[in-house]
Amino acid sequence: MVESGFQIDGGGPRAYDHSVAEFAGPFADVAVSAVHPKPGESLLDLACGTGFVTRRAAYSVGAGGSVVGLDINCAMLEVAADEGPDIADWVCASADDMPFDDCSFDAIVCQQGVQFFPDPVAALVEARRVLRPAGRICATVWAAPSFSPYFHAVATGLIAAIGDVGVAPLYAAMPEGGDALLVGWAEAAGLSDIALRQVEVVINLPPIREFLPGQLTATPWGALLRAAGQHAWDVATHKAFDELKPHVRWDGSAGLPFRSWLLTATRG
Ligand SMILES: C[S@@+](CC[C@H](N)C(=O)[O-])C[C@H]1O[C@@H](n2cnc3c(N)ncnc32)[C@H](O)[C@@H]1O
Repeated sequence: MVESGFQIDGGGPRAYDHSVAEFAGPFADVAVSAVHPKPGESLLDLACGTGFVTRRAAYSVGAGGSVVGLDINCAMLEVAADEGPDIADWVCASADDMPFDDCSFDAIVCQQGVQFFPDPVAALVEARRVLRPAGRICATVWAAPSFSPYFHAVATGLIAAIGDVGVAPLYAAMPEGGDALLVGWAEAAGLSDIALRQVEVVINLPPIREFLPGQLTATPWGALLRAAGQHAWDVATHKAFDELKPHVRWDGSAGLPFRSWLLTATRG
């Protein structure tokens, strides 16, 4: 059986909220805007993780609206609830079996989640079920690492240190042909008005030599690297620093493009 992807534990969820926010935060703004939330509406943040999207979704629907954040990883939800105890209902459940009535939500946002579901089509069928008629959905998937120098550098470091096994979970997070995959899943789930675009944001990352190791600890591929020992960790991080050298400024920071595919659709 395929298991849910992007599972982190220990200090991972807390590190995720700090380090991934640097580049996932701006994409969350785009994803929430893409479902055109209105004050008073009910929104679901599907695979909410530590709640980047949920916090923005809550702001967008205002005090008269309601937001639910759902994730299969209860440790991620604990961080989400710490960061925003009153902004949402936090639900620990699987995307393909959601504990909600039919037609519960006006809109759903799923940022960097669908590629980790064991059965993305089943989860989108379930998303369609819990949407109201004409309800809107947005789902995003990172473009392949070749489009983002930061992810490319991390992938190069992982391959140098622990080979293909180490880089496999990173490639699963940002698959080749993710655009076609997203559209195929949405079509198979029976969604309507399907549209796809790419979103690229240049992110100013803090000094890379501190940022990159911290960000690695917030990922499943970082956990594999840690398990492979200190030598592997050093090989991977040095290789990644070398790759990023041409982009790094005098103060160690770097402005780097990140690219994601963004799909919008409706229940019809
Ligand atoms: C890369 S994180 C994205 C989190 C958040 N949406 C964000 O933008 O930061 C992927 C999330 O998908 C969740 N996930 C994976 N499989 C899932 C499933 N079957 N049902 C619900 N959530 C799942 C993971 O637990 C993880 O929190």
